[in-house]
Amino acid sequence: MSYADEISKRRTFAIISHPDAGKTTLTEKFLLFGGAIQTAGAVKSNKIRKSTSSDFMDIERQRGISVATSVMGFDYNGLKINLLDTPGHKDFAEDTYRTLTAVDSVILVVDCVKGVEEQTEKLMHVCRMRNTPVIIFVNKMDREGKDPFELLDELEAKLNIKVRPLSWPISMGMSFKGVYNLYNKKLYLFRPGGVTVAEDVLTINGLDDPQLDTQLGDYATKLKDDVELIETAGQPFTVDHYLAGGLAPVFFGSAINNFGVKELLETFTEIAPPPGSRPTNIRVITPDEKAFSGFVFKIHANLDPRHRDRIAFLRICSGRFERNTMYHHVRLDKNIRFSSPASFLGQKKSIIDEAFPGDVIGLYDTGNFKIGDTLTEGENLQFQGIPSFSPEIFKELVNLDPSKSKQLAKGIEQLTDEGVAQLYTQQQGNRRIVGTVGELQFDVIQYRLEHEYNAKCRFHRMDVHKACWVTSDDPKAMDDFCRYRAERIMIDKDGNFVYMAESSWIIKSLQADYPAIRFHDTSEFKREMQEG
Ligand code: G4P
Repeated sequence: MSYADEISKRRTFAIISHPDAGKTTLTEKFLLFGGAIQTAGAVKSNKIRKSTSSDFMDIERQRGISVATSVMGFDYNGLKINLLDTPGHKDFAEDTYRTLTAVDSVILVVDCVKGVEEQTEKLMHVCRMRNTPVIIFVNKMDREGKDPFELLDELEAKLNIKVRPLSWPISMGMSFKGVYNLYNKKLYLFRPGGVTVAEDVLTINGLDDPQLDTQLGDYATKLKDDVELIETAGQPFTVDHYLAGGLAPVFFGSAINNFGVKELLETFTEIAPPPGSRPTNIRVITPDEKAFSGFVFKIHANLDPRHRDRIAFLRICSGRFERNTMYHHVRLDKNIRFSSPASFLGQKKSIIDEAFPGDVIGLYDTGNFKIGDTLTEGENLQFQGIPSFSPEIFKELVNLDPSKSKQLAKGIEQLTDEGVAQLYTQQQGNRRIVGTVGELQFDVIQYRLEHEYNAKCRFHRMDVHKACWVTSDDPKAMDDFCRYRAERIMIDKDGNFVYMAESSWIIKSLQADYPAIRFHDTSEFKREMQEG
């Protein structure tokens, strides 16, 4: 197979959702269709259950599950599909944000009863930042949920994206009859507990086909009215609009009943984009470039405290990756060879000899990598678009054993390289602030520092609303700002200045008082902050 064919047959995507919407169930059905697993129940949820949130080992054990499920490859319709898993638990949202940098498109699962939930909004915000194409699957239609039109309005309003249903539900809950596919004009009839929908597909000759009335009875009239409304008042669907990230096609179904899943997968394979270009600090890298390049978006620690080796997950952006070949680690300016790179099929891991753009491979790492690192064939470039977002909880790291301060420093450096949390140091003085999106990480850090680095610490909560990255074109203005606000100016791990804002009100007033200073939402400074 030619190099161009290898690239064009790859589809790399993630399924995202608020916990409990049905991400794991849908993933499993996809893998069943792809033949990567044979039985239902094979995919372990990487959900972290609430009841165990104070048991550190359990958190780690449960997190361990996600090593196996970090990438799930399967073949479908002649395509090689890489499905990247994202932790559902909100405390690990940062992991999910980073995984979204490594995909080319996304399927968003929404629970029809609950509609758009908090986590859905946050995840979509990240997708919208990079115009990632999104397909929406409204799940659990076997339950009494929200009115589908209302749901579409809610999706548009809360997710800041145009939506266009490609299938339309016929009733819901106890009386759920199935969906009408607006694209191929077929009627899919709902039979609970189905494994395949093939036998329930009815090819009808448009909405005037008498079979519609025979099959649906009174529901046929409502369906006709609904479809007319969508087709006259709705946004027309174009693949280009979807690929540009401006329009999300919507499907309705029930993952647990395997209903609407095949339809979703078929459409996905038809319209989802192949591996795309990626920006670097120098130029845009296109997948067809012959020289290999890729970046690390996730690092998973070994759970065995006696070994500090980890698995770094690398997304290949261009060229062919080959085993036992020297590649250039740009940040460290050194060449490294990988003797046992792993790829993933279903939930099985195996050593590979080569990999192509769109693929995600696991590299054994003994401490060389941190999130965002770039590997090339020698060119000094750095992939962009793997920014840090502001954490939500900030605590000062307090050393409990002065004789172990070196161990503590090393431990917190390495754990934050893995992306467990963000680390900021005070510009003046040596206070260290750890920022996370959830309380769980503090437990994980404390436990791992003690067991892997033999260092004891405690955390002292700080009154910080948000971390804002600050820049200015005027060095004097920056200098003045940092001096007057020294107490709250920190430096992140890449040497950027960060202001630890007390409240959104303070950010607004600082913006007015210091017009030469720019406040940014993320460490890559692309977007200015919009508070209030
Ligand atoms: P998540 O990964 O997004 O967190 O969701 P997951 O797939 O684990 O699904 C959450 C719950 O919703 C599960 O029930 C699952 O069985 C159920 N579910 C998924 N799809 C559908 C659907 O189409 N209809 C209905 N009615 N339920 C659905 P659970 O009781 O939490 O877990 P389990 O004991 O069934 O595994």
